Amino acid sequence: MTGTIETIEQQLLSEQQLAERVRELAQQLDRDYAGKRPLLVVVLKGSAIFAADLMRQMSSDLEVDFIGTSSYGDATESSGHVRIVKDIEASLQGRDVLLVEDIGDTGLTLDYLLRTLSLREPASLKICALLDKPSRRRVSIPVDYVGFSIEDHFVIGYGLDYASRYRNLPYVGVLSLKPA
Ligand code: IMP
Repeated sequence: MTGTIETIEQQLLSEQQLAERVRELAQQLDRDYAGKRPLLVVVLKGSAIFAADLMRQMSSDLEVDFIGTSSYGDATESSGHVRIVKDIEASLQGRDVLLVEDIGDTGLTLDYLLRTLSLREPASLKICALLDKPSRRRVSIPVDYVGFSIEDHFVIGYGLDYASRYRNLPYVGVLSLKPA
């Protein structure tokens, strides 16, 4: 509670911008997965709100499962150590899997998930991320569907957190952290 002053500096993406882009992504996914039954694997917890909105805009015959990876803790920098803390229940073998992620940052989480999940022999494995910060990449990953490419800001809201807070904001904002 002490030591840092947190300020929401600016609203980066409004509720309306998010809703419009999510609708566009859903339409694109419906076209690309036509005739298939995609399995959406939602990466907890940051993607929960995005995924809930995305799947309700999709008309595909889809299934959903959830996977949990280790988080940043209370820091804004990835530790670089990724591990699965909650695994998927469904078998991925022969499935068209779409990983639904909140944000691609260093790429370490998605790189780890791609390598781990591809060993389970899905028919296809793609990534849909609401946000992408390409300038922060430490490992190259193919992000097949991106909602918004953003500058190097630490963002919160619409599912994204800082120290487990702010997920419930309906918009995406830039958080500034300054010593008190
Ligand atoms: P990566 O492994 O560095 O690509 O980071 C992936 C995870 O870090 C994301 O799924 C988010 O949960 C978290 N993350 C990265 N950047 C931000 C941010 O700007 N705000 C909130 N969480 C972030």
